[in-house]
Amino acid sequence: MCGIVGCIGQRDTVPVLINGLKRLEYRGYDSAGIAVLDGGISVVRRLGKLKELEEALLTGAPSGQIGIGHTRWATHGKPSEENAHPHLDCTGNLAVVHNGIIENFIALKEELQAKGHVFGSETDTEVIAHLVEEKYDGNLLEAVKAAIKELRGSFALAVISKHEPDRIIAARKDSPLILGIGEGENFIASDVPAILGYTRSVIFLDNDEIAEVTCDGVKITTFDDIAVNREIFTVNWDDEAAEKCGYEDFMLKEINEQPTAVRETIRSSFVGGDVRLDTASHLTEDIIKGLNKIFIVACGTSYHAGLVGKNAIENWAGIPVEVDISSEFRYRNPIITKDTLVVAISQSGETADTLASLREARARGAKVIAISNVVGSSITREADGIIHTHAGPEIGVAATKTLVSQMAAIYTLALYLAQVREAMPKAEIDKLIAEVKALPDKIAAVLADTSVIEECARRFSECRSFLFLGRGIGVPVAMEGALKLKEISYIHAEGYAAGEMKHGPIALLEKAVPVVVVATKGHTYEKVISNIQEVKARDSYVIAVATEGDEEIKQQAEYVFYVPETPELLSAIPAVVPLQLLSYYIAKIRGCNVDQPRNLAKSVTVE
Ligand code: F6R
Repeated sequence: MCGIVGCIGQRDTVPVLINGLKRLEYRGYDSAGIAVLDGGISVVRRLGKLKELEEALLTGAPSGQIGIGHTRWATHGKPSEENAHPHLDCTGNLAVVHNGIIENFIALKEELQAKGHVFGSETDTEVIAHLVEEKYDGNLLEAVKAAIKELRGSFALAVISKHEPDRIIAARKDSPLILGIGEGENFIASDVPAILGYTRSVIFLDNDEIAEVTCDGVKITTFDDIAVNREIFTVNWDDEAAEKCGYEDFMLKEINEQPTAVRETIRSSFVGGDVRLDTASHLTEDIIKGLNKIFIVACGTSYHAGLVGKNAIENWAGIPVEVDISSEFRYRNPIITKDTLVVAISQSGETADTLASLREARARGAKVIAISNVVGSSITREADGIIHTHAGPEIGVAATKTLVSQMAAIYTLALYLAQVREAMPKAEIDKLIAEVKALPDKIAAVLADTSVIEECARRFSECRSFLFLGRGIGVPVAMEGALKLKEISYIHAEGYAAGEMKHGPIALLEKAVPVVVVATKGHTYEKVISNIQEVKARDSYVIAVATEGDEEIKQQAEYVFYVPETPELLSAIPAVVPLQLLSYYIAKIRGCNVDQPRNLAKSVTVE
């Protein structure tokens, strides 16, 4: 994880670094620091959230036109001021920030210590500073290049040196890094929002590339010295899109942005009554017709989108789908043939296990489609085809609007596959297209009145355990409801297929364990009602997500969250929204930081 930012130009770099770090805090937030060239190198680092660093800077900030900054999510070495970045070499003349993991850092550290280098932290990053120091012979770029040849693992890094006070050296391997192109000033960052206040012209560094960034420009080469001429991308995100817009937290803002997120994601998916897929050039009709198996690989919330995708693709397109957690897929021996399609879902596009699964699948001959919210992210650059979700930047660590956008994207994919394979009558596809287009308004209807959800949250916020149940398309919704609740409120919660309840979880039931049941109308509705009876017979309170107009369910449940009537397979989108809100309100009542839950990071770039 971790976020890095750097700036070189005429203006004082400190406010630029701090603004950038604020936008990157979602990547890590256990400590932060900056290094500024001001004749020498001045470093200020603090344990804790960015505001600790800001406070420290109030009393004596360095000032200079070149600087680098870092917000950390600990991997090697506990969160502490010593382990916070930037890290220095022995002389204090060279500073490094790094995102990633240096796998061979222990061996390197021992070698460097044997040569007399003295370390001040437990981090893997510090070896980079000492290694560059060791290699330095009057040319910083060459020293960094020589150093990274010895590094194993993943890194996005930036280096500044007192001896070359007119440049930042930035390099990337398997961790994201972008360059921002300004006028008389240039930037580096882990992610676009960090520099949006200063420029909209961005270059996405590729793996194994190194850049020399000066006031006047950027020069990119590969690690093997081949010159790279990369296109400048113009970012059209609204700067305000990364702000809270009056909401108390990013999470609430992002939940409320869901109608727009879905609308934007499907904006160009339906043309003249047909389903269109931007990635169609890679996924030709012949390939689609020949497919005999689809794997969906993803982690966490994106995995739940994958489960929804399985239901839609199997039912509409008639292709068998297996959904795998990426960290399992990459290490097992999946049976992949040339007629296998792999769909990798990752909102960040940087999740290490999903990226590794994608590589594994491609190495075994599968075509891979990436579904990601981040343009230029690693999985999109390595996949054969891309479906972008257009949710805009998601700052809250808990995924909300990116989830519904992923579901919308995978519904579109499923319809496209069905269309090409002629697996459904055209009239049925047309009906579903109309229903997909109606989804944003249905989400908006759920968001319009949250009073019952808030009341329910007040009633049950003290409970120590929840069970979430559903059947069919309700299973991933229940799993997502449980995941959201545990990650932002720290209440134990389990998401289960309702039919499995009798095989174990029923033992947990008692008055103090509320059971949230996804009971929207569908072909297993009666079975879900029976499960509700079983829950009630064990004294647990039932909270139901139900279809508008279902009055009977009020007899069964303590609280009912109504969602608009939607075809069964599409109902995952409206049904998940009340569960996001339930978690949100419970977490707020419990005083939790919903945007930055403990121990979690937005982008999991280590396995
Ligand atoms: C939960 C959450 C995580 C992510 C998971 C995958 O709210 O955000 O479970 O869904 O870390 O992340 P991406 O989609 O970026 O691969």
